[in-house]
Amino acid sequence: MAKISFAVLLIIVSFVFGMSSAQLTSNFYSSSCPNVLSVIKTAVDSAISKESRMGASLLRLHFHDCFVNGCDASVLLDDTSSFTGEKTANPNSGSVRGFDVIDTIKTQVESSCAGVVSCADILAVAARDSVVKLGGPSWTVLLGRRDSTTASLSTANSDIPAPTLNLSGLITSFSNKGFNSREMVALSGSHTLGQARCTTFRDRLYNETNINTSFATSLKSNCPQSGSDNNISPLDITSPTTFDIAYYKNLRIQRGLLHSDQQLFNGGSTDSIVTTYSTNSATFFTDFANAMVKMGNLSPLTGTNGQIRKNCRKTN
Ligand code: HEM
Ligand SMILES: *[C@@H]1O[C@H](CO)[C@@H](O)[C@H](O)[C@H]1NC(C)=O
Ligand SMILES: *[C@@H]1O[C@H](CO)[C@@H](O)[C@H](O)[C@H]1NC(C)=O
Ligand SMILES: *[C@@H]1O[C@H](CO)[C@@H](O)[C@H](O)[C@H]1NC(C)=O
Repeated sequence: MAKISFAVLLIIVSFVFGMSSAQLTSNFYSSSCPNVLSVIKTAVDSAISKESRMGASLLRLHFHDCFVNGCDASVLLDDTSSFTGEKTANPNSGSVRGFDVIDTIKTQVESSCAGVVSCADILAVAARDSVVKLGGPSWTVLLGRRDSTTASLSTANSDIPAPTLNLSGLITSFSNKGFNSREMVALSGSHTLGQARCTTFRDRLYNETNINTSFATSLKSNCPQSGSDNNISPLDITSPTTFDIAYYKNLRIQRGLLHSDQQLFNGGSTDSIVTTYSTNSATFFTDFANAMVKMGNLSPLTGTNGQIRKNCRKTN
């Protein structure tokens, strides 16, 4: 009887651990590639020193990776004549960037520890290092993800939230990945960094009323009613290369750039969270860091699943 109970307990325990992302660990490469974190940090710092926007671009790559079948570097796979990746999906096409920086990091990491470090882990560490470099919080990145041999254009189109979504659509999109509204608002704080193309916010400038008039006017010359789709403007007009709470302060005065940004402060259930973050950077930083760890845990491939790509752009 005792023996049977023990066996049952073992099965339950291994099931619970198998289900969770308990396989990811902070010291995954400590013996197989002890310098990997410093190699990535040096390369990220140098890329951001050359172009401050690169920090935003690297952070976004990790998000667009994790929201499509988990953090498996699927976003990095190039299209070929016989393979369709995610790069031509609507949320990615013409706007995701940073692939060359990831390639540079991968080459450097391969030269000291060939075939050991996954592209998915490089994305997760580069996102964290970008936030730190630009003045945001740090967190411990859990490691041990492996890389996919597949990608999904259709899931990239369906699961990465669109800037046309209203608040309930945003809440649903994040809830589908296991995030509550507060975590959704915290992760959206990534828009304290980076730029968006005219085509993603034109309707807001010309057709919406919950936008400060002088803010809208100031953006119209760079984003006319037609044409100039690819002209870019900062998501956080105040401090686009500093990771801070200005994004939330701007939402409170109707200076969100995207329709989806302003939805977070538009008389709805998330107004109070925006208000909290706009006045308390420590709370925002803590919530953001925790939500990033959680995002990094989305369905990783571990153990013998997937592979360690030699080149992040293609499967082995
Ligand atoms: C809440 C739902 C979200 C929506 C609707 C959304 C939408 C967008 C859009 C439309 C752009 C501009 C892309 C373009 O020019 O085509 C953008 C940029 C960006 N997004 Fe989001 N996003 C969301 C959440 C997030 C999250 C969770 C992160 C990171 C964890 C993130 C990080 C970024 C960054 C850093 C940029 C600027 C990238 C650059 O300058 O290269 N976004 N987002
Ligand atoms: C939000 O958008 C969805 C889908 O477009 C729509 O069905 C719903 O009525 C909208 N909700 C609100 C509160 O506007
Ligand atoms: C604004 O809305 C109108 C009517 O819905 C639409 O025809 C027009 O294309 C929109 N204009 C812009 C710049 O989005
Ligand atoms: C828009 O912003 C300007 C400048 O910051 C301010 O003077 C004005 O009162 C704002 N407009 C509205 C309608 O809030």
